[in-house]
This record gives sequence, structure tokens and C-alpha cells, in this order.
Amino acid sequence: MTPVINRLKILDIVPFGNGPKHEFFALRLTPPNWESSAPGQFVMLRPLPARSDALCPRPFSICKLTGGHLIVFFQVRGRITADMAVLEPGDEVQVTGPLGNSLPVHAGRPTLILAGGIGIAPFVEYVEKHPRPAALTVEFGHRYPLECYPFEGIAEKCAARSHEEKSEEDRAGFVALMEKRIRDFAQEGLILACGPTPFLRLIRDVSLSCGAEAHLCLETRMACGIGACLGCVIKAHLPADGDAPVRINPSGRAESPDEGRFVRTCACGPNFRADQVIF
Ligand SMILES: Cc1cc2nc3c(=O)[nH]c(=O)nc-3n(C[C@H](O)[C@H](O)[C@H](O)COP(=O)(O)OP(=O)(O)OC[C@H]3O[C@@H](n4cnc5c(N)ncnc54)[C@H](O)[C@@H]3O)c2cc1C
Ligand code: FES
Repeated sequence: MTPVINRLKILDIVPFGNGPKHEFFALRLTPPNWESSAPGQFVMLRPLPARSDALCPRPFSICKLTGGHLIVFFQVRGRITADMAVLEPGDEVQVTGPLGNSLPVHAGRPTLILAGGIGIAPFVEYVEKHPRPAALTVEFGHRYPLECYPFEGIAEKCAARSHEEKSEEDRAGFVALMEKRIRDFAQEGLILACGPTPFLRLIRDVSLSCGAEAHLCLETRMACGIGACLGCVIKAHLPADGDAPVRINPSGRAESPDEGRFVRTCACGPNFRADQVIF
């Protein structure tokens, strides 16, 4: 579907977590004039009028889209997300979407979802729309308290566990658990992951080492979101037409004579097979 630019109104903005300084919010907007999106797609969003000197919109996963509203879930990181945190009902934002490709859905295959921090956002919609939630297993690693994240709705629909990382020991424990889970699912399962780059790199490496099929949802920084600025290029093993399959050799590495090529995350992703991404 061709992306559309909409001017949407804030219905409400709900802080998550009990801390004195809220950093996490669910932003509920009037529905856009596109009717559907697929899990894993994203929007480019910015407040109107621009409140800070940051004029470029920012990418956010589509957390939920119904006939009544569009929800994005965000963590305050810098200028635009700080501006978003002080929006009020009735204020307006510019939203361009739906953008990017989607995460694969296979009702017949056990699917392991690995999410790190704000990387939980695309899986709200994924779990909600999955034809067989009983096939899903979620392992969620996070540094802030669990109530800061939209985890409850996910845990109501499928087998989901959370792992708070308060120390280096906790982090090492979560890494060990992920490695084991990837190997458990390697034979027949599908693995989906979203989170910070070191987290995705680990999942890619373990998946490739045991021949598991993994797909990574990247959070690369973006400027335009529509393929026009080259602000989001990464190196990847992708053929020139962008969508033909990449052959894999027995070692699990992409069978490519070169070192990959630069591709735009917004136009070719943000979801890539693990063997395609060069970090
Ligand atoms: C496809 C996609 C989906 C995303 N979905 C969500 C989502 O659902 N919820 C959410 O909260 N965030 C999401 N992000 C990340 C979000 O876009 C950034 O947090 C946001 O752009 C920060 O904007 P800012 O103006 O507040 O920060 P800036 O002022 O631009 O930057 C502030 C700090 O954050 C860092 N930063 C900025 N963008 C990123 C990034 N993409 N990854 C890592 N560090 C970054 C900068 O290096 C800097 O240190 C997504 C990113 C992508 C590409
Ligand atoms: S963000 Fe402009 S090309 Fe991807």
C-alpha cells in the first residue's frame, strides 16, 4: 500500500510505569485514512507544529491499528520524543504510513519472539493479529520495571516471560536463556527479534551457528522513512532487486562472494532475515 501523510489528533497519552519521571507512553491517535497495516510496519511521526529544532519525523512501530484508533508506544530518548511526551488530547501530529515490510507469520510453526526493551512495541500488534497465538513464545528482556512496557496484553494471549536486567549477572542469564531458546526452536521454529543492535547481533550469530531461521526488526536511525535520503543505510546481503532469496551454505553464512551492499533500512526493511544483515 502506498504510504499516506495524515494529520491526526491525540485522543489520549497514557504514561506507563510508576516512576516520578515518566519515560514511557502509549500515544492514542485518531485513525489514519489507511485501513490496515501488517505487524512489523512502522510510521514516521512528528508533532505539529514542530516544538523543537528537530524538524524530521521519527520512526515508530505500529503498536495497534483499529477502526477507532492508531496507537504508538514510545520511550523518551531525545528531542522529538520529549516533545511527544508533553502532547495533550486535541493536539495534532503528522503521521506517514504504513511504511516498511512486515514480520513473517506462520500459523503452523512454533514461533519464538525475543524482544529487548522498547523492541517489544511491534509484537503487541503481532501477537494480537496472529492466527494461532498458542504457537507463540515470548522472552522479553528489559532494564526498566516491567510496568513501563506494554507487556500485559501480550502475556494475556500467549506464553510470555519477562526478564528484568538489574545487574550484569541478570544480563548474562538472559543471554544464556536466549541462546538455549534459539537452539530449542532451530529445527522447526521461526525466530523473530527486535531490540538494540548488540542484542540483535547476538541473536543473528547464535541463529546462524545452529541453522535457525531468524528475522530481525531493526531500529536503525531514519530521517525520511520513505527511501529518499539514504540516512538509514546498512550493509546487507541482498540481491539487487531486493527480494530474491539469498542462498545459504552449510556453515549458515550467506553464500555471497562480496561483502554485501548498502541498502536502505526503510525501503528494504526494517525486517530482514538474520543471514542478510551485516552489523
Ligand atoms: C522501524 C523503527 C521502529 C521504531 N519503533 C519505536 C517504537 O515503537 N517506540 C520507540 O520508542 N522507539 C522506536 N524506534 C526508535 C525511535 O525512532 C527513536 O527512539 C527516536 O527516533 C528518537 O528520536 P528523538 O528525537 O527523541 O531522539 P534524538 O534526539 O534523535 O536522539 C536522542 C538519542 O537517542 C539515540 N537514538 C535515536 N534514534 C535511535 C534509534 N533508532 N536507535 C537507537 N538509538 C537512537 C540517539 O543516538 C541519541 O543518543 C524505532 C525505530 C525504528 C527505525
Ligand atoms: S530514512 Fe531516508 S532513505 Fe531511509
